[in-house]
Amino acid sequence: ALLFLHPIIVNLNMDSKADMKREKKDEESGGNPYAKLDVTAVLQECRAFNETPINARKCSIILTKLFHLVQQGDNIGRTEATEAFFGVTKLWQSKDATLRRLVYLAVKVLSTISDDVIIVTSSLTKDMTGKEDAYRAPAIRALCLITDAAMLQTIERYMKQAIVDRNPAVSSAALVSSIHLMKKAGDVVRRWANEVQEAASAEGHMVQLHALALLYQIRSNDRLAVNKLVQKFAKGGMRSPFALCYLIRIAKQLIEEDDQADSAFFQFIDSCLRHKSEMVVYEAASAIVSLPNTSPSELAPAISVLQLFCSSPKPALRFAAVRTLNKVSVKHPQAVTSCNVDLEKLITDSNRSIATLAITTLLKTGAESSVERLMKQISSFVSEISDEFKIVVVEAIRALIARYPRKHTVMLPFLANMLRNDGGFEYKREIVDTLIAIVEENPDARLAGLAQLCEFIEDCEHPALATKVLHLLGREAPKTANPHAYIRFVYNRVILETTQVRAAAVSALAKIGAQCPQLRPSIEGLLKNCLLDSEDEVRDRATFYLSVLDMAPAIVNSLVLDTLQSSPAALERAAAEYVENEEAHSNKFDLKSVPVCSAPVAKKAKTLLAEEVAPAKEKKTAANATAAAAERLSQIEGLTAGLGPLFKSTLPIPLTDNVNEYTVQCSKHIFANHVILEFEVKNTLNDQLLEQVNVSLEDAEGEWKALRQRPIARLPYGEPSSIFVLLPFPQSGAVQGVLGATLNFKVKDVDPSTGEPESDDTYDDSYVLEEVELCVSDSVQPLGKASFGPAWNALEEEDTVEETFSLANVSSIHEAIKKVCGLLGLAPCERSDIVPEGRNRHVVMMSGVFRGGHEVLAKANVAIDPNDNSIGLNLLIRCSESIIAEILATAIV
Ligand SMILES: *[C@@H]1O[C@H](CO)[C@@H](O)[C@H](O)[C@H]1NC(C)=O
Ligand SMILES: *[C@@H]1O[C@H](CO)[C@@H](O)[C@H](O)[C@H]1NC(C)=O
Ligand SMILES: *[C@@H]1O[C@H](CO)[C@@H](O)[C@H](O)[C@H]1NC(C)=O
Ligand SMILES: *[C@@H]1O[C@H](CO)[C@@H](O)[C@H](O)[C@H]1NC(C)=O
Repeated sequence: ALLFLHPIIVNLNMDSKADMKREKKDEESGGNPYAKLDVTAVLQECRAFNETPINARKCSIILTKLFHLVQQGDNIGRTEATEAFFGVTKLWQSKDATLRRLVYLAVKVLSTISDDVIIVTSSLTKDMTGKEDAYRAPAIRALCLITDAAMLQTIERYMKQAIVDRNPAVSSAALVSSIHLMKKAGDVVRRWANEVQEAASAEGHMVQLHALALLYQIRSNDRLAVNKLVQKFAKGGMRSPFALCYLIRIAKQLIEEDDQADSAFFQFIDSCLRHKSEMVVYEAASAIVSLPNTSPSELAPAISVLQLFCSSPKPALRFAAVRTLNKVSVKHPQAVTSCNVDLEKLITDSNRSIATLAITTLLKTGAESSVERLMKQISSFVSEISDEFKIVVVEAIRALIARYPRKHTVMLPFLANMLRNDGGFEYKREIVDTLIAIVEENPDARLAGLAQLCEFIEDCEHPALATKVLHLLGREAPKTANPHAYIRFVYNRVILETTQVRAAAVSALAKIGAQCPQLRPSIEGLLKNCLLDSEDEVRDRATFYLSVLDMAPAIVNSLVLDTLQSSPAALERAAAEYVENEEAHSNKFDLKSVPVCSAPVAKKAKTLLAEEVAPAKEKKTAANATAAAAERLSQIEGLTAGLGPLFKSTLPIPLTDNVNEYTVQCSKHIFANHVILEFEVKNTLNDQLLEQVNVSLEDAEGEWKALRQRPIARLPYGEPSSIFVLLPFPQSGAVQGVLGATLNFKVKDVDPSTGEPESDDTYDDSYVLEEVELCVSDSVQPLGKASFGPAWNALEEEDTVEETFSLANVSSIHEAIKKVCGLLGLAPCERSDIVPEGRNRHVVMMSGVFRGGHEVLAKANVAIDPNDNSIGLNLLIRCSESIIAEILATAIV
């Protein structure tokens, strides 16, 4: 089951009513017998451990109480814990099997809060190698937990024996403990690879799984070795369904990480669809449908398997199948249509979770005409299902409206009804987000959606949601025919709510005032009332807006309608530097000198087990890359002196493939007028030491010339290090370039085991790398604007650069938009990158900041010609510096 069902979204229940209900339930069921334990009393009781003869039953109960306290996070002092621990050591004399097993648990539980746990090492070692099987496994687990890298060497021999032990419980305990030890003493554990291999072909099903997981951990830094591992076991030898599920996950990850992955991996997963264990079949099907870039013919067998599961008598299988189909239906609605008949049968399933998933899947795949019927069906039991599944319903509605915008007349009342009924914060937030999306994406639904949201904030117990809606009103109300109507809803919040909501209401009023000159006098009157608010946050905002609203449109845009372009942390740092540096005081503080920062894209959390398969591989984002690089570069003496703040860093791009003698990856760090290329070099030959490692760059146009470079003095085996090359942007204004790159170095032969040079002799060598490409998007930070229209109009007087292109190699409007945003380095604004189904023409609005702090705005009109499927692009670009608009236009070829 663990492998089967992915963890479910944790439900943040902020509803105090629900809490009260829970308490009442506890009382009714007699409550928790451990609920009122007192730490001091239990520690007193621990003295019983020292009595002779040992009363096994009494001691077991006391230990259980102690565990409960530690588990609850009760604070136990070190002295007391140590005293209890010494008592526990006495219990080793007991022959009672239950008590003895609790003793091992006690060693683990107390290991972090007590001193001197090390003293039980020899007792544990004795039990681990003893005759009593029931003690061996828990002894291994306790021992591995308290041991350190040095001590591990002394028990290494026993660990190797335990890994290949004939008793599966012992073998599993040793393997799982070794997985934990990988973090503390990876080098030692790696030496046990042969034993682990042997365990992988043992009888026990769990042993195989644990051995495979450990083998994977041992090799996870070496892609080639992981490839070999999967190739070997994919051919056979894994009988355990658990291990096969794990192998499928590794194979899937290899395919995801590398488009050129061995096609045998896919064939292996595909072959598992015909396995006799349902668990394996499901895992394979679920892997295939979640792979990117699967063709319909690859998808079909997996879908048929899920379809079969839909009519299984086992609810778990039906649930798993329909849950997976529900996910697939987002990306491949076409493929899931074949299951519609089976899904229809499930909409009356007695398990409401299954019914909900079936209906919401049908909503995504079915015809527009069936929407009303399905919604009616779901209305009949929506009050019975948990918030988690209500969220599934809301997500389906969201997807549905994107497909059939006209259906908003059915969906909006339904959502509004859900919003009025009980539910936790997460659920309410999902509904509000969906309504906001509908209002922003669908002008026809704007009025009805805004009306529902206005009603919601009249009586909303979640300030975070009220604030969200107020921000929306500030943006969207001016676009309606009668913005005046919304002012009352906003102003009511100023009178009735908490500080956070009042402040947001003040900002919303100002935004409406900024965009509707006719309403400005009355709004200014309302803002004046706010000057008397009891909280300074509210007063300060009102004061600020009152003094700004009558200024020039460009100023109003940037101060009222735009959001802050830098992260608060970066702004604080820049301001502190300015204050400290007295020389700078002759100039005004320039907001443009603060690094801009695009909001990090919120990623959905990965499931627990998927994370386990990929140990410690954090996904890096471009925003992270910049923040981390700024810190790192500033610590290198003299490297960035005089360049100004770092504008942007790109994620590293490999310039070699992973299997080479030397691996090199390049990141670009962009400043106002310079770029620093960072080449991170890793020497993968253990018999070579490289010295004076540098890069020579070659540019056919002769425009890019390195100003200076920081070579690597010494590059031993396996320790990555970086070369930095500083290039000014060319005088010509060019920002694109392709640079040939070669790595130069001196080689010293060394003894592989010690790393010591065999002699002082060196020889010169060089290594040709892949070309380094500099592109337009490197010089641009994507930064979406909350209100595109006013900003676009404010740049009206500037020249608009207009170009028309015909795009090759794109198959849909959506893809074209993604490609254009990527090439220009701009972010889509106001959700204009969402293309309603069936459109063959769409306008996307984009914005960003060019290095030096220049704002760039663009509109792209993308149209698909249905006759030959060619895509035409008409691009308008505005920037206060027309040269920059022209540079941007060169990005598209
Ligand atoms: C539906 O079935 C799944 C899988 O067996 C189970 O986990 C869940 O609790 C059931 N839900 C309801 C509401 O019966
Ligand atoms: C990346 O940024 C996010 C949010 O800004 C942060 O939570 C995360 O820890 C960062 N990751 C790294 C590796 O710095
Ligand atoms: C790079 O290193 C080679 C030897 O490794 C040396 O001959 C050359 O002068 C160096 N070039 C630069 C630009 O430092
Ligand atoms: C079109 O795409 C294919 C495959 O993705 C690629 O091989 C080809 O070079 C592309 N053609 C152009 C003109 O970009």
